[in-house]
Amino acid sequence: METTHRVVVGDARELSAVDDDSVELVVTSPPYPMIEMWDDLFAELDPAVDDALESGDGRAAFDAMHAQLEPVWDELERVLVDGGIACINVGDATRTVDGSFRVYPNHARVLEAFESRGFDPLPDVLWRKPANSAAKFMGSGMIPPNAYVTLEHEYVLVFRKGGDSRSFEPGADRRYEAAYFWEERNRWFTDIWTEVRGELQALEDGHEELRERSAAYPLEIPYRLICMYSTYGDTVLDPFWGTGTTSLAALCAGRSSIGYELEDAFREVFADRIEAAPELSRTIGRRRLERHREFVERRRAEGEEPSYDAVHYETPVMTKMEREIRFREVSGIEPLESADGYRAAHEPLVIE
Ligand SMILES: C[S@@+](CC[C@H](N)C(=O)[O-])C[C@H]1O[C@@H](n2cnc3c(N)ncnc32)[C@H](O)[C@@H]1O
Repeated sequence: METTHRVVVGDARELSAVDDDSVELVVTSPPYPMIEMWDDLFAELDPAVDDALESGDGRAAFDAMHAQLEPVWDELERVLVDGGIACINVGDATRTVDGSFRVYPNHARVLEAFESRGFDPLPDVLWRKPANSAAKFMGSGMIPPNAYVTLEHEYVLVFRKGGDSRSFEPGADRRYEAAYFWEERNRWFTDIWTEVRGELQALEDGHEELRERSAAYPLEIPYRLICMYSTYGDTVLDPFWGTGTTSLAALCAGRSSIGYELEDAFREVFADRIEAAPELSRTIGRRRLERHREFVERRRAEGEEPSYDAVHYETPVMTKMEREIRFREVSGIEPLESADGYRAAHEPLVIE
């Protein structure tokens, strides 16, 4: 199996390199309006943002920033297939403008934007960043009533384009082989994720500082979402590509990807990151099977034996639907002739 991973250095408000109805899944994290690190970017897209901030009008700045995301949401509506899914990772912002502190609810604005374009909202996920210090509390300390709750969660908003889910031919290999384990389903399809940083992050050393600077999300987030909402061979789009975490996850998960990014420099970062993709894809597959075997051991210790046997790996599984599960490893990567991305070869991952 082959996948491609294209990167367009350009403005996602016009995804001209992406055809209508050509993408099965969107996984992305936009610049968050009213978070200071993105003020300059929004002001470059629309000088009205700067005017609003300088005149102390937080509400107008918030509106103007979201107005710059709207054309991207229009484009997602155009390029997604019917029944395709969009997963938008976004956090709310807290900020004091002109002496007044408040929350700017980005997630509510994005939800409205997708609903108004005819997308069906699906249940969303909250993921929680671990709290690291008691000093983070804002407001007046131990005396009521003017202290504020600290925001330590972000949203993954999930939308489906059109009323119907995607359909597949009966027994489609690419769908059944992309199955997840029963206990993974139980973990992934809960609405609060707490351990996402720890999961795959440790496998990709050396990029911690860069992740901070580029507001990259943990690899576990796009990896899970891709496994949950697409099948082998699908195409995943990230219009706010950053350091390419979504493409790296797509590579490891055997899906094609396409990214749009304003900053040319991030392509070099990605070129570094994908060198590790073959090893990373193997480690991820092995770890998933290892965790599954540990789960089976725990069930057995409780006196319960899973009912089915997996076809490609030596392990029992809980349900018939997991029997065909088969991980893919990246067996080779080469630049595309057009030089705007990579082609990857994938083989079924063999694990004894
Ligand atoms: C929150 S970061 C995404 C980080 C990414 N998820 C990662 O893991 O590295 C948002 C990115 O969107 C880019 N961006 C913002 N507006 C854009 C636009 N209109 N078109 C393309 N890229 C844009 C920014 O340069 C930034 O890299």
